[in-house]
Amino acid sequence: MQLKKKLCAALLPALLTLAATTAEARDWNTIKADGKIIAVTEGAFFPFNFFEGSKLTGFEVEVAEAVAKKLGLAIEWRVVPFDAQVASIRQDRFDFAIASHGFTEERAKSVDFAAPHYCTGGQIAAPKDGALTAAALAGKTVAVQLATSYADSAKRIAGVKEIKTYKADPEAFSALKAKKVDAWISDKWLIKATLEKNADAGIVAGEQVFVERVSAIMRKNNKELQDNYNRALAEVVKDGTYATLSQKYFKTDVSCR
Ligand code: ARG
Repeated sequence: MQLKKKLCAALLPALLTLAATTAEARDWNTIKADGKIIAVTEGAFFPFNFFEGSKLTGFEVEVAEAVAKKLGLAIEWRVVPFDAQVASIRQDRFDFAIASHGFTEERAKSVDFAAPHYCTGGQIAAPKDGALTAAALAGKTVAVQLATSYADSAKRIAGVKEIKTYKADPEAFSALKAKKVDAWISDKWLIKATLEKNADAGIVAGEQVFVERVSAIMRKNNKELQDNYNRALAEVVKDGTYATLSQKYFKTDVSCR
């Protein structure tokens, strides 16, 4: 008996750690019963997910909040660095992540993609007399955010001298402004919004180098959650909420038409 007790006491911390790291692998019924859904984003991808003071907001934050509302759930946000998000979902630590993940075969090996909530492309930005096309990037240095489709696309461009990766996109833009790199590849809507806010930076948007469909990601084979999420997203589109948000953030329709 004593021994058993001792053994339990010894194992408890380990079990608790395990629970803390894997506790939120939840199927639809568990989420529904709980009344809240736990969502991950980054908070540094303007205007899709960002902080306004201490408040997390942005186009996809608001889309996710509208989706949760349709599902009859409260939403609880967790902020995780972008490069750790796919792993965090694969490890079942949260119910879903919404942080502008473009569909890639590689990511689809470890997570499932919901229906897309916008369509977009990766684009080059550089000083106005600089390297504004893929061809012009030969021999140049390019800034991209770590673990993104922009990093992948930079690798595909022939002749690029160096790819510099940054933990978050604003750092990549700062590097470009400070002339530490020749060009920056990021999302075309993000570049547009960023350049509007930094009109005096002398940076302009150049060639679009690829297109992508962006979705929330969730644990693999969590089918009921995925179906419910997709149904709610379709309702958010149908009742006009999506169009209102798209106009609010981009003054145009960013849906996958
Ligand atoms: N769309 C790009 C990708 O799929 C970048 C997304 C970056 N998102 C973010 N929240 N920083 O990789």
